[in-house]
Amino acid sequence: MSNTVVADKANDERIAKIQQRVVGMYHKHPWPGDRRSDEEMGWRLKCLGITPEDYVGKTVLELGCGTGDYALWYATHGAKHVTAVDLSDGSLARAREKAAEGNVKNITFIKHDVLTLDLPDNSFDYVYSVGVMHITGDTFGGFKNLVRMGKPGAPVIFSVPNKFTRGALRPKQWICHWLGGDDLEARARWAKRLFPISIWRLKKRFHGLNNEELVFDNFALPHETIHSVGELLRWFDKTGVKYMGGFPPFRVQDYFFAFAQPEYADFRKTFVGFPGLRLTSDVLTKVAKLFGAVTKPPFPRPGMFQRGICQIAWMPFALRFYCYTIAGRKG
Ligand SMILES: C[S@@+](CC[C@H](N)C(=O)[O-])C[C@H]1O[C@@H](n2cnc3c(N)ncnc32)[C@H](O)[C@@H]1O
Repeated sequence: MSNTVVADKANDERIAKIQQRVVGMYHKHPWPGDRRSDEEMGWRLKCLGITPEDYVGKTVLELGCGTGDYALWYATHGAKHVTAVDLSDGSLARAREKAAEGNVKNITFIKHDVLTLDLPDNSFDYVYSVGVMHITGDTFGGFKNLVRMGKPGAPVIFSVPNKFTRGALRPKQWICHWLGGDDLEARARWAKRLFPISIWRLKKRFHGLNNEELVFDNFALPHETIHSVGELLRWFDKTGVKYMGGFPPFRVQDYFFAFAQPEYADFRKTFVGFPGLRLTSDVLTKVAKLFGAVTKPPFPRPGMFQRGICQIAWMPFALRFYCYTIAGRKG
C-alpha cells in the first residue's frame, strides 16, 4: 500500500471517529433545541448584504441543520424549497416535529454526512451552513462541498467559530476537557460547577429555551476548529467565491451601516445577559444615526489591518460572538 493510501485511510478513520462522537452528542443534546430566529435573521442578513431576492422563490440548501430553526425560517420567509441535511437523528426528529407543527411543507430533511453528501454540482440557488463544518474533522472539505452544490451566482453563507473570540473561551473548555476526560457528560458537569456565570449569560441570550444543550455545545464538544477571517477569505479565493459581507462586520466603517439599520432593534434582544455589549451597541447606534450609513453592500473585501482590529474588538464579547458569518457569491 502506498504512503498516500495509508494516510488517506488514517484520515478517514480519524474523521469517522470524530463524527461518531460529535453526532452522538448532538443526538442526545440536539442543538439549538429552539431559537427565536426572527429576532436574529433580519439584521444578520442585512449586514451580510443578503436581500430577500436572494432566497424568495429560490431553492435553498442547509448543511448541518440541527433542529431546523434556520431552515424553517427560510421555508416560511419565501424560499421555494429548502433541503436541510444533518446526521443526528435526535436533531432531525425535532426539526421534523417543528415543520409538522407549523404545517411547513416546502422543506425536506435528509439524514446524511455533510462531507460526503453528493447532490449534483450547481444545483441550489442559495447555500449555507452555520456552526457545523468546524466539528466535522474536515472544515475546508465541508466548505468546498457546500460551494460545489451552489449554482454560479448563488449566495454562499458560512459560519464557524472565530480564532480570536472562540480562542478566548478555549481555557475554560480545556479545563472542562481535562477534568472530565473523554466523558462528555462529566465535562458538562464540570462546566456547570465552574462556569455558572458564563452559562447563565448564554441561557439569557437564548431566553432559557435550551439550557442543557448550550452547556454541551460550548463546553463538552469532542472536536472543533477555529478560524480567522483571513483564512475564510483565502477559502473564498480558492473556491471562486466573491466576498459580499461579514457578520459582525469585518471593517470599522461597515459598523455605521449595521447600526443604522432598524433591524438592530430585534437583534438587540439577543444581548440580554450581555449588558456591556448592549451598552456598546446602543452607543454605536446613536453614532451611526448621527453620521448615517457611510458604506453599503456589497462591502469591499476587508484588508488585514481592518479585519485584525475588528476581531480584536470582538474579544471582550467572546461569549456572545464566538461564531461569525461570512457571505459571498459563487463565481
Ligand atoms: C451546533 S449544531 C448547528 C445547528 C444549526 N446549523 C444551527 O445553527 O441552528 C451542529 C449540527 O451539525 C451536525 N453535524 C455534525 N457533524 C456532521 C456531519 N459530518 N454531517 C452532518 N451533520 C453533522 C450535528 O448533528 C448538529 O446537529
